[in-house]
Amino acid sequence: MMQVSIRSADKSDIKELVEIEKSSFVSGDGPLSSKSFRYHIERSNILFIASVNINDKCVAAGYALVLPRKNSMRLYSIAVNPAYRGKGVAHELLKEVMHCAAKRKVASVYLEVRPDNEAAILLYRKFGFCKTAELSDYYGEGSHGIRMIVSLQAISNN
Ligand SMILES: CC(C)(COP(=O)(O)OP(=O)(O)OC[C@H]1O[C@@H](n2cnc3c(N)ncnc32)[C@H](O)[C@@H]1OP(=O)(O)O)[C@@H](O)C(=O)NCCC(=O)NCCS
Repeated sequence: MMQVSIRSADKSDIKELVEIEKSSFVSGDGPLSSKSFRYHIERSNILFIASVNINDKCVAAGYALVLPRKNSMRLYSIAVNPAYRGKGVAHELLKEVMHCAAKRKVASVYLEVRPDNEAAILLYRKFGFCKTAELSDYYGEGSHGIRMIVSLQAISNN
């Protein structure tokens, strides 16, 4: 497996975060802009960036953005540059998100995803997420979503 390191993102990462975002979401999906990333960093939302080592160079490969709620956390977005997919980058990011949830002692982590996003759904299932709701027109008219939740007790040692 590729060596992946995870750390909190700061403002100096915004350019690379936007590149990951552009490579991962089409414009119809409402990709996060540099302004949005800046907003989340300034709000002290949880933003992890994953780097991989390529020819002795540290390259930003993916990120996970989490919004803390009262007794839960919402995984707002996770993305990995296509060049580095299938190598465990998202797995490491999600592992970090779950550690963070455990440290903050929240009861659950939840997210929304498109029902046809097989890669993401399989990833979430690996971490114990289960579908709890179907969200009609969540992504726009005729474009539904599903909500998935994992309770902290259900987290295994992934
Ligand atoms: C979903 C996404 C983040 C996965 O990133 P990744 O780094 O390639 O995932 P990993 O290599 O860590 O894979 C972890 C697990 O996810 C699942 N998975 C990832 N890619 C998969 C694919 N193409 N097909 C099926 N399962 C897949 C598998 O369960 C995998 O575990 P395994 O390798 O033991 O089978 C990535 O495909 C992505 O950025 N997609 C576009 C953005 C997006 O849709 N984000 C989610 C929005 S809700």
